[in-house]
This record gives sequence, structure tokens and C-alpha cells, in this order.
Amino acid sequence: MDLFEYQARDMFEAHGVPVLKGLIADTPEEAAEAAAKIGGTVVVKAQVKAGGRGKAGGVKLAHNPEEARVAAEAILKLTIKDLPVNRVMIAEGAQIDKEYYFSVLLDRSNRTFLSLCSVEGGMEIEQLAEERPEALAKIAIDAIQGIDLAKALEIAKAGGFSDEIAAKVAPVFVKLYDVFVKEDATLVEVNPLILSKSGEIIALDGKVSLDDNAEFRHQRESMERDQLDPLETKAKESDLNYVKLDGEVGIIGNGAGLVMSTLDVVAYAGEKHGGVKPANFLDIGGGASAEVMAAGLDVILGDPQVKSVFVNVFGGITACDAVANGIVGALATLGSSATKPLVVRLDGNNVVEGRKILADANHPLVTVVDTMDEAADKAAELANR
Ligand SMILES: Nc1ncnc2c1ncn2[C@@H]1O[C@H](COP(=O)(O)OP(=O)(O)O)[C@@H](O)[C@H]1O
Ligand SMILES: [Mg+2]
Repeated sequence: MDLFEYQARDMFEAHGVPVLKGLIADTPEEAAEAAAKIGGTVVVKAQVKAGGRGKAGGVKLAHNPEEARVAAEAILKLTIKDLPVNRVMIAEGAQIDKEYYFSVLLDRSNRTFLSLCSVEGGMEIEQLAEERPEALAKIAIDAIQGIDLAKALEIAKAGGFSDEIAAKVAPVFVKLYDVFVKEDATLVEVNPLILSKSGEIIALDGKVSLDDNAEFRHQRESMERDQLDPLETKAKESDLNYVKLDGEVGIIGNGAGLVMSTLDVVAYAGEKHGGVKPANFLDIGGGASAEVMAAGLDVILGDPQVKSVFVNVFGGITACDAVANGIVGALATLGSSATKPLVVRLDGNNVVEGRKILADANHPLVTVVDTMDEAADKAAELANR
């Protein structure tokens, strides 16, 4: 789960990372009230889970509550990188002398943690990495050793900080690593980390991604989980592993490996059929009961981009006959709301019984195909009609 900036701010504050005052507002009036509470110059900031808000007009300076109201009114009408702005944060205005960059993340490919650091912050990090890669230090972090003060100094030096400023930022790096570990994050990024005109180091913008697999260790009920795609929300409610993609062929499979290879064969088959592509990843897991199948179909059929559905199941512990009954049951449950053609490929345990159940049901939307390649081809063809 990715956090909003204001949630990251609150988390930083709880761990002793220096931040400025910040209050959230959902209306221009609330923004004016928040600005009055904070006092002085404030910055009105769009709360969307995307970077580059500054450039998109989502970060505006306001010298008084009335200006904050006007700024919030404009920002709340914006859509930044396809995300509507439903909320703003009113942040205390900083007097910025320098902008730096610091992050810690999970480096999956090297099976370790990684810290990125640069004395040249502010701009988007992808841009810095591309234009001036030598200005971005990349330091591997040993999970046992972590970031202590000595390691933090090493990171700061590698990032191009002078001794004097390194001594100031290093303790903040240690605290940010504390956030990373104690909150079970996979990313903690501060861009910019600033040096204020009065000489203080402050985290001005925060991006935090949390490891969903560690959620059981935390109490975050109060944390809002909005801005999920509505279909992803629906899938989550049914405990389905669903990722929306951009194509036209809906995919349902059992087991992540099978679903991954199904995406490949559909993309390949699609080349012959007008370039249609997989519309999603959906793993219904081992126990493909009628309810799970219905929930899965319901999610996929709810995607207006989907033109056909490929159900690709390898019967194992849950045998093909159970899956076939699941499909028949699901179609009965969905009734007239199921309108798109389904291509079903079953193989494995009890395959003969499974195919017979589908043949007997003889549902007008269902085509049973024996092999995965042929089924992918059929599904792509139907999606291209
Ligand atoms: N509280 C603040 N006070 C003064 N300037 C700010 C404040 N917050 C952000 N800014 C300025 O706006 C820029 C962009 O804001 P930031 O929060 O980093 O959003 P994003 O990364 O999405 O563009 C910052 O680099 C900084 O120069
Ligand atoms: Mg930023």
C-alpha cells in the first residue's frame, strides 16, 4: 500500500523525523481554516499518490487564509496523472535554502536494501538518475547492520554532502531508516529533504510504500485505502489476487505461474487478432469454488474494456469437475449480467468429468477448447470481433 503524503508526514513525525505542520482539508473552506490555524505563509498541496505534483500545478503558495481557499479551490479541481484530487494538505511554508534527496528501498534484484542519496534533490529522481547518474549515490544496506550513524555519514558523503551538512542530515537518515524498519515499508523516500534558511534539516515531501504482507503486525485501520481501482477494491473484498491491465481479453487462472504464462500466450495470440492484449491478471487460487469463480467472473465482466474471457484452469487438489461446476454455477449466479464470451480450457485432475459438465450445461457463452494455445487464440479472436 502506498501512502498519501500527509500520512507519510504523520508517520515521520511519530518517529521523530523533522517535518513541518500539516493539516488536511477536503474543501476550500476547510483549507482556509487550516491556513488560519497554521498561520503565516502556507503551501497548499494536492494529496494524490503520484509525484510531480509541483509541476502539475498541485503545490501552491498562499500568504493568508483567503489565498489558501482560492488555491485549494483550484487544486481540488485538478486531475494529476489520471488521479482526481479529493483532498489537499495545508503545510507550513518553508524557507528553502537547499533541496536534497534521500530514500531507502527494498532492492529485490539484489536481495537487499538500498539507499539512494543526492545533494541534488527536488527534481524527480528518475530524471536525476538519467541526466546526472554520477550525482546519485546508491549504497547497499545490510539488513542486519541497517543504517547507524556511521553508515548514514557514509551515505551522505557518497551523495555529495559536505562534512558539515553530512553531520546534520545523517541523524535524519537514521530516523528515516527507523521508519522503514518499524513500519515494515518497502520504500521511504524524501524529496526534497531541505536545509532551511535557518539551518534546519526538514522532510518536506514524503513517499512511503508499506509491505502488505506485514499488515498483521500493525494497526492501521484508520488509514484510508482509497484511490484503488473500483474493480481492484471489489477483488480485494473477495480475497482475489487481481491486477488490472490495459487489454481486452479477461484472464482467470488458478495459480500465479499459470496466470503469468496465460498472459504470455494471450499476448502472443493477440498479435494475429488485431493486437488484442490481456485485460488483467486474476489468480483464483487453489480452491476454485463456484463462489470464487463467480466473484472472479464478476470482477472481470465489470471491466468495460473486456471483450472476451479466457478461463484457464489446471485441476489439482481442486479437480476439473469442481471447477466446471464452479463455472456453471457462476454463470447461473450472474444470469443476464454475464454477456461476454468465455473460452474455457481445463486440464489435469478429472478433466474428462469437467469437460462433460461444461458440455452438458451447453451454455451459449461458453466455448471449451482443449489446449492452452488454441484457447488463447480463440479468446483473442472473440475479443477482436
Ligand atoms: N511546505 C513547503 N514549503 C515551501 N515549499 C514547498 C513546501 N512543500 C513543497 N514545496 C516546494 O514544492 C516543490 C514540490 O513539492 P513536493 O512536495 O516535492 O511535490 P512533488 O514531488 O509531487 O512535486 C518542492 O520541491 C519544494 O520546492
Ligand atoms: Mg517531491
